[in-house]
Amino acid sequence: MHALASSTLENNWRDGYTIPSARLYPFQWNWDSGFIALGLAWSHPPRALEEVRSMFRGQWGNGLLPHINFHQPNPNYFPGPDVWRTAAVPAAPQDLATSGITQPPVFAFVLERLLTTPAAELPAWADFLAELYPKILAFHRYLYTCRDPHGEGLVYIQHNWESGTDNSPAWDAVLDAIDVTHAREVAHLRRDIRNVDAAHRPTNENYRRYIALVDLFARLGYDDAAIARESPFLVQDVLFNSLLARSNQSLITLGRRLGLDTAEVEAWQAKTVAAINHKLWDEEAGHYFSYDLRAGRLLRVRTSSGFAPLFAGVCLPAQADRLLGGLTTHFMRSDAWSLCASTAATVPAFDPVKYWRGPAWINMNWLLHHGLARYGRTELAARIKANSLHFMAAHGYFEYFDPRPPAEGGAAHGLGADAFSWSAALYLDFTLNPAPL
Ligand code: GLC
Repeated sequence: MHALASSTLENNWRDGYTIPSARLYPFQWNWDSGFIALGLAWSHPPRALEEVRSMFRGQWGNGLLPHINFHQPNPNYFPGPDVWRTAAVPAAPQDLATSGITQPPVFAFVLERLLTTPAAELPAWADFLAELYPKILAFHRYLYTCRDPHGEGLVYIQHNWESGTDNSPAWDAVLDAIDVTHAREVAHLRRDIRNVDAAHRPTNENYRRYIALVDLFARLGYDDAAIARESPFLVQDVLFNSLLARSNQSLITLGRRLGLDTAEVEAWQAKTVAAINHKLWDEEAGHYFSYDLRAGRLLRVRTSSGFAPLFAGVCLPAQADRLLGGLTTHFMRSDAWSLCASTAATVPAFDPVKYWRGPAWINMNWLLHHGLARYGRTELAARIKANSLHFMAAHGYFEYFDPRPPAEGGAAHGLGADAFSWSAALYLDFTLNPAPL
């Protein structure tokens, strides 16, 4: 498994960065890059530094870290740079095409984790840390300045692609409410369904809405204030904000090591932790949900994103108890299920083989594993790790996996893209890095 993980990362390595998977995702993706660095730190330590550095080459002048860096042109992906039209935006880098939206902020905790890997023993490490710290800080500052219009300590995502959990049913109500009367048709432009089973991918109706949003952002010149005024998709995502909180903690830890003043981050952090618990916690459901700023309500669809506050360490003990009660009831139909379905099996939209509507993902399992360990749930933490390793040992480094046992119809193979980089990378982290996070 280690040799296969290393060769997967090797095959997906391009000149200075790693693509998530050759068939579906031929560029550098933001949060993928962070998880991938955690595996490269074991298979090829200098590349962990290179990976992160090339991600930040795409950073905009206003601090935004794009969700895709288009390092090299490739016709096998839609939407490409011609759709994003960021070249005309003054804040965008002039020498590298990027998308114009972001993804969950993982890099600060990735850097903290790299401290416990061979990457931190490299002579180049100290300079690397000093170089990256202010860039990550600038990204967080962008989020708090431009994505939190009411100063709540919760930042919004403006597109489901910013959530990382792209096709989650939690976004259905928001997307369905988008008026696409004047939006263009995009079904014929899609490349993803040429490469994997369309039944596992988002529908054309949804894709039309995704592109309608991108067209709107491009038309508004990626002006955040205008987007906040006009866009129908403004959501305080629980996963995004929890990873922001965990990353803030890392900025504080790393900043102190570097002898820096961390007061600004501490102020953000205090607000964010309180706001996650206050605004995103639903006492009745015993679960955390994302909040739709446009409609002014919680999006009460039970998904595994709701466990991310454990990873951030923001739950009070009583909340953690309730939350975890739901893990083994809502997210499994029998004890033979593997953890953790991305959407609860009790949600009507649950589909065990469809992209973010049921299948288990290795990065979400990794976050949940560390969240459980943090709350002293050693047995559950071990179980989720064992389930993750088993998925990959049995099927390979696929993008996602059916959580059902074969006796209940569970797919006999992995789902989505194979030779998927973050699965391979996190296998290495799971098995080679025993440090808590
Ligand atoms: C899919 C996933 C997203 C990931 C991207 C590249 O779009 O939903 O989280 O970053 O693929 O792997």
